[in-house]
Amino acid sequence: MFSKRKDTPQIDPVQRELYEHARKRVVQKKRLFQHFIVFLVGVLFLLIFDFLIGFGKEITFFGLNWSVVAVICWAFLFVLHFCNVWLFHKFMGTDWTSRQMERLIAKQKAEIELIQKDVDKMYPKDELLKKKEDFIIQGQSKTTQEVVTPVKKQKQNITMIAAAGENDALGKDNDLVWHLPNDFKRFKQLTTGHHIIMGRKTFESFPKPLPNRVHVVITRNPEYKPEGVIVVHSMDEALEIAKDDPQPFIIGGGEIYKIGLEYADSIELTRVHGRFEADAFFPEIDPGLWILENKELHSADDRHEYGFTYLTYRKK
Ligand SMILES: NC(=O)c1ccc[n+]([C@@H]2O[C@H](COP(=O)([O-])OP(=O)(O)OC[C@H]3O[C@@H](n4cnc5c(N)ncnc54)[C@H](OP(=O)(O)O)[C@@H]3O)[C@@H](O)[C@H]2O)c1
Repeated sequence: MFSKRKDTPQIDPVQRELYEHARKRVVQKKRLFQHFIVFLVGVLFLLIFDFLIGFGKEITFFGLNWSVVAVICWAFLFVLHFCNVWLFHKFMGTDWTSRQMERLIAKQKAEIELIQKDVDKMYPKDELLKKKEDFIIQGQSKTTQEVVTPVKKQKQNITMIAAAGENDALGKDNDLVWHLPNDFKRFKQLTTGHHIIMGRKTFESFPKPLPNRVHVVITRNPEYKPEGVIVVHSMDEALEIAKDDPQPFIIGGGEIYKIGLEYADSIELTRVHGRFEADAFFPEIDPGLWILENKELHSADDRHEYGFTYLTYRKK
């Protein structure tokens, strides 16, 4: 009735060896303890036989009673047993240690190789350079219509993430015009580990690059080369860089969102309930093209001056 499962998980051989070793140690210690108890009881019996009952009273060795000699011999054997368990077998031996070290080093090397492969896959240096060159050549030879055709990857969810007031305000003087800690937290949660694509102005509004995200900055300036970011000159190029990311985020600002609408598969919009003076605005979301999938209202509180609603749109 109970068939043996074929997918029984395999135990790591190193773990198995450690387990076996621990089991042997327990058995060894248990035997030593049993020996100690038998030794104590045995000594008691030998002394009772010799001194109380008087058995073999006439037998002596080097002037010592036979029972005393027997106790000394047994004690010597017990000390040998003790040393065997606690000194000679205490450590796993140099062979075992060096085998473990070799395994550990081999395992770490394999992990480093895997990480390196991932990095190479995400940022293939030669390929990237070649693609950049190809892209420039294509841009020169093809018509404008062909060049701006969005590069869309299957199964990729290109997401625009933004917070905008009821009048679509995004920010003023290259800064935000509200402070909503929970929205920041959500932004961090959603974008961490992904590519974040932004305009040069938005990048410059950050005090420093955001941790654990690949920054892709779009500019027309060929001389622009800030540290720690990938600089590109169009949305196509930005999405080419992020092509292996299942969910790259377009994070603004106004100019970049306008371009991004054409490429995006979804929009995570935080609608801030207020009207704000601004110089950057979120583009209009055409209800004929976008479907509202999710809506989550959060009221104003002592940490949030304005109420806001998380809106998730998906392209039809
Ligand atoms: N509320 C939000 O969720 C949110 C999010 C992000 C930003 N913001 C706010 O938005 C404001 C910034 O937005 P913004 O619209 O002024 O600037 P932006 O979109 O961040 O960046 C504009 C810059 O991007 C580059 N660029 C634009 N189109 C390009 C194209 N087709 N090809 C190559 N490069 C291109 C240009 O850089 P060069 O000039 O270097 O060529 C341009 O000046 C700030 O106030 C910021 O705080 C708000």
